[in-house]
Amino acid sequence: MHLLHVVGARPNFMKAAPLLRALEMKKVHQTLVHSGQHYDRNMSDVFFDQLGIPEPDFNLHVGSGSHAQQTAQIISRFEPVLLEEKPDGVIVYGDVNSTAAVAMVCAKLGTRSIHVEAGLRSFDRTMPEEINRLITDQLADLLLTPSIDGNRNLQREGVPASRVHMVGNIMIDTLVRLLPTAQARYAELRVLYGLQEFGLVTLHRPSNVDDITHLESIAQTLERISADLPLLFPVHPRTRQRLAEHGLRLNRLKLIEPLPYIDFLALEQAATMLITDSGGVQEETTYLGVPCLTVRENTERPVTVTIGTNQLVGFDMKRLVDEARMILGGNGKMGAIPPLWDGKTAERIAELLTARVVDEEEHLVGHQPC
Ligand code: UD1
Ligand code: UDP
Repeated sequence: MHLLHVVGARPNFMKAAPLLRALEMKKVHQTLVHSGQHYDRNMSDVFFDQLGIPEPDFNLHVGSGSHAQQTAQIISRFEPVLLEEKPDGVIVYGDVNSTAAVAMVCAKLGTRSIHVEAGLRSFDRTMPEEINRLITDQLADLLLTPSIDGNRNLQREGVPASRVHMVGNIMIDTLVRLLPTAQARYAELRVLYGLQEFGLVTLHRPSNVDDITHLESIAQTLERISADLPLLFPVHPRTRQRLAEHGLRLNRLKLIEPLPYIDFLALEQAATMLITDSGGVQEETTYLGVPCLTVRENTERPVTVTIGTNQLVGFDMKRLVDEARMILGGNGKMGAIPPLWDGKTAERIAELLTARVVDEEEHLVGHQPC
């Protein structure tokens, strides 16, 4: 069996790493394609190093651009790779442009695609990722969900149940594996950044940072919160650009470059709270039991709110301040870990994929004319 994985942007790397390892254990022939959607060292290569991901066999070097440009580049550059490699299946991750573009190429060429992190819905079509989720899940042959809401969403959209499997959250596999290393790393970071009690901030959603009114009011609110709690802010390149374009300064916060995975996890597990709009961070804080305030009106990861430590504060900046104060007062939201977020998702997927291929081969053999 030959499986081809496609990754492109930062949150894909944590999801692909454990499955590459689990399939390696099963001696599956694998090919890795990097679309090049993210390309800065601290948004890409550093994750390959820290997560032990092998060098990609192909890099499509698509780089940045409008959604149409980026998606079109991925489609046209991935097609020849697929035609050359002829894998038995293509594995795509999450909801970035690389994911949807590749799912489209696979569907047109009749190659089976497998979507890891299927079924998540924010029900907000102004969010580019929601469009990518809808496209990918309509086209994928096998849909692997992280939580039961994913199965329900897919059922409602008419995806046959035989194609859908709840396997758990693969991002948590990477977290579980590297948490001890991250905990050991924290002592050094604490000295480096002069930390005691602190909050950690990440922001990169276009709805927050591309809209100057939102960006300004979030920036002012963070400055206000940092009077009570020092805030460390590893700044995503999209956000850095917007802050620079509008001459916005966050003088009270400590702004740093995007962090390598282990450093970010080290800080995340030690932080008093996270203030974020990241999908992955909502999940990781739920696993870690760290209170998370999400600056979004909705989430495609509802279990982080219903079961975990996440709270949606929307664009209500007063609420952000109030909730931050609650946490500082020791009244942060408690939570539990959702089912199957146990570090074993990749093993389950590898088992499913290898068993399924055997099944399908047997099925085909069963239909051969005598
Ligand atoms: C993308 C994903 C988003 C994901 C995020 C993770 C889509 C539609 N969006 O958003 O779902 O949450 O990645 O981080 O796929 N840039 C650099 N260096 C890089 C990468 C980007 O400078 O290595 C800058 C470029 O100016 C670029 C901008 O960041 O235009 C945005 O990058 P892009 O990949 O288009 O979207 P993200 O905001 O990173
Ligand atoms: N992350 C990181 N360094 C940072 C910020 C985030 O390693 O400076 C990790 C974080 O731990 C999580 C992932 O990046 O594993 C989330 O990716 P991101 O927020 O870029 O995308 P999203 O999940 O919103 O699509």
